[in-house]
Amino acid sequence: MRLGRQPVYLACHPELVDQVLRNSRTFDKGGPAHEEVRALLGDGIVTCPNAVHKRVRRLVQPAFQHTRVAGHIATMVAMADAMTGAWRPGVPFDVTREMTDMAMAVGVRAMFAAEIAEHHRDETHACLQAIIKGIHREAFTSALGAQWLFRRRTRRFQRALARYKQVVDEVILAYRRSGAEHADILSMLLTARDDAGDPMADDEVRENVINIFAAATAPGHASAMVWALHLLDRHPDIARRVLREIDSVLGGDPPDESAVRRLELTRHVVLETLRLYPQSWLLTRCVAAPVELAGRALPPGTSVVVSPYLMHHQPGLFPDPERFDPARWADGTPGPRGAYIPFGNGSRKCPGDTFALTEIVVVLARVLQNWTLQREGASSSPVLPRVSTMLQAPPMVMTPRPRGSRPTATHV
Ligand code: HEM
Repeated sequence: MRLGRQPVYLACHPELVDQVLRNSRTFDKGGPAHEEVRALLGDGIVTCPNAVHKRVRRLVQPAFQHTRVAGHIATMVAMADAMTGAWRPGVPFDVTREMTDMAMAVGVRAMFAAEIAEHHRDETHACLQAIIKGIHREAFTSALGAQWLFRRRTRRFQRALARYKQVVDEVILAYRRSGAEHADILSMLLTARDDAGDPMADDEVRENVINIFAAATAPGHASAMVWALHLLDRHPDIARRVLREIDSVLGGDPPDESAVRRLELTRHVVLETLRLYPQSWLLTRCVAAPVELAGRALPPGTSVVVSPYLMHHQPGLFPDPERFDPARWADGTPGPRGAYIPFGNGSRKCPGDTFALTEIVVVLARVLQNWTLQREGASSSPVLPRVSTMLQAPPMVMTPRPRGSRPTATHV
């Protein structure tokens, strides 16, 4: 394909995709606007080149271990409860906006759980909203040398980014001064040691906090929650089975780690939702050393892209790919090896996958324990994703009703 004047190669076969994603020395992080994103977010785990990635990943990865994720479940439940506590039966609202806000609040708390960060959390949340909204516009206009196009918005964005960096520095300083360890990602970063036994310097911690926030609070898992609610609204038979599972596993209790493991169908719904709507629909790489891919000689500097969306929607890989069918998951991951890649693959694979899947399952289960949600005008218009550098759920107006007060035959 061509992107402006640049040729870009799209790997479409699982074997080629594997070759690209699993060989990060040759296919390094890069591609359109990558350097601009890196300049804005700093050199952290998401943006850094392969040459330094191994060390950074080793330092950051422990924060995402399974046992640590379990420690965040109570926060996920509390944030879901705070959100649903404001719902009024029969009063419609934009689920996408609510879920995005709630997921961001979970991300901020998972990063800064300590009391000493209490008054920094709101400001972090506000800055992040501005940054996540503007980062790709800023990166692309800067890559095209066209920042004059959105001068006022660029100024607002830069102000938010500068303040955000200050806030993160203030929290790091407060944590260092207190010396106490907290059950959160920042404490993990501050106590992490590399192979030589050295900790990260403060600016390295800051850049990784900013990188992780960008990955963790991108609208992805909020979108997955919205799509899952939408798909269940459209598939009442599956929804009924999901509700039966939630009721039998949870009773009236909030989900905990063992319940999350037993919510098997709910998890299959989430995995199938991410097959249909992978937020990271395009992963970009830049060739670092001469290489041959599918018989083409690619010189250094060539852009190569992989599309999880394209992979997940190929009939040769997933039969009847447009059909929402959680039963595909009954015998494990469907499709050929390396075809299901909502979290990428290889050394840059998302380390937050367990966190994200746990959060989506917990929030869905908690919401559906007490509420049903029905989209307004559901039968008439199809719902299309918003496509930018991410694939996002569009604003989706749904009406909440307490379970047991169902008004229509099609709704569960
Ligand atoms: C449904 C939600 C999510 C999806 C679909 C997703 C997807 C992805 C994908 C596809 C990548 C690889 C990008 C590439 O290869 O270029 C990635 C990287 C990353 N994700 Fe996620 N992610 C999600 C949620 C999260 C969360 C909640 C966190 C943190 C708590 C997180 C942290 C990261 C980090 C730090 C990286 C960079 C990894 C590296 O380069 O070593 N993600 N994510």
